[in-house]
Amino acid sequence: MKFELTANDPKSSARAGVLQTDHGEIQTPIFMPVGTAGSVKAVHQRELENDVQAQIILGNTYHLYLRPGLGVLEQAGGLHKFNGWNHPILTDSGGYQVYSLAANRKIVEEGVTFKSHIDGSRHHFTPENVMDIQRSIGADIIMAFDECTPYPCEYGYAKKSMELTHQWLTRCVNRIQTTEPKYGYEQVLFPIVQGSVYKDLREQSAEYIASQNQPGNAIGGLSVGEPHEDMYAMTSLVCGILPKDKPRYLMGVGTPENILECIALGIDMFDCVMPTRNARNGMLFTTQGIINIRNEKWKDDLSPIDATLGGYVSTFHSKAYLRHLIINKEILGAQIASIHNLTFYLWLVKEARKQIVAGTFAEWKNKMVKTVSQRL
Ligand code: GUN
Repeated sequence: MKFELTANDPKSSARAGVLQTDHGEIQTPIFMPVGTAGSVKAVHQRELENDVQAQIILGNTYHLYLRPGLGVLEQAGGLHKFNGWNHPILTDSGGYQVYSLAANRKIVEEGVTFKSHIDGSRHHFTPENVMDIQRSIGADIIMAFDECTPYPCEYGYAKKSMELTHQWLTRCVNRIQTTEPKYGYEQVLFPIVQGSVYKDLREQSAEYIASQNQPGNAIGGLSVGEPHEDMYAMTSLVCGILPKDKPRYLMGVGTPENILECIALGIDMFDCVMPTRNARNGMLFTTQGIINIRNEKWKDDLSPIDATLGGYVSTFHSKAYLRHLIINKEILGAQIASIHNLTFYLWLVKEARKQIVAGTFAEWKNKMVKTVSQRL
């Protein structure tokens, strides 16, 4: 996997780059729509390509391992073949979902034992089998098996947890280095920085993760309820330590404002369920600000959802029609709102990239943050 930086913003740490995978190029900074169980909820692959213009999507090891299971995925020739998405895929390791979804989980040095949230069956994740599972799913980018510390988190727990994540990383690296890609294309490992909101732990973790010299690095354990100031401070600190010539991925972030602020701090990749999950509840992100489409005030607003985006769905349909669909719980409402929100997120990172290349990102970002976070 090759990563080339094409531009650096003169007034912030923002960068524009190109990440090359065997399933195609990714222009960074990029937002990755979340396709937990092999589908981005309510959005078809053709819409992801043509309307949203997604370049890479995410899958979840935890969900895909439980259902449909590795047998079916291997028989299909991997997730790209199974779901028909012939572009890059990144899989999260289960290091987050196993803590947020599974029942009766028990963490020991060896790994995590848990009960499926689907049928209560017992399973065991270790750094080794989570690497094997992600190879079988067929991800282009495989995430290390980690523990995402909750917030708030006592210093002692955060330190122990970070040390466990580091130990597990050594095992992940060993496993990746001693196994072959499953389907002929390259599969790379991204380690994850932890350390909660503690500066010394974050520094220590970033240094350890950087020393592993993997093709990309991630920052985890943020956007879990801590104040935004803490998230920005930790991201800034860690970006200052992680190598400049490798992509940096901030996991699970965030609002349009968070994304712009963290691009300014040097982040290249983002994922979040917010644009799709909130779309299904009627929360729309637009170039003018945030809309609760269920609000009475949009009842007879026949203007396009967001004409500035230029996307077909956001221009063709009106706010009043989308409101009608969402209020009536029509499936099409969830589809249109999800396509719209993702189109906006991909527009936002593309615009950010243009501004970085033009050397005008910092000023643009300050104005844009205000616009996209205001409630309409
Ligand atoms: N998604 C959001 N945060 C995290 C994290 O800390 N670890 C993992 N594996 N996934 C995440």
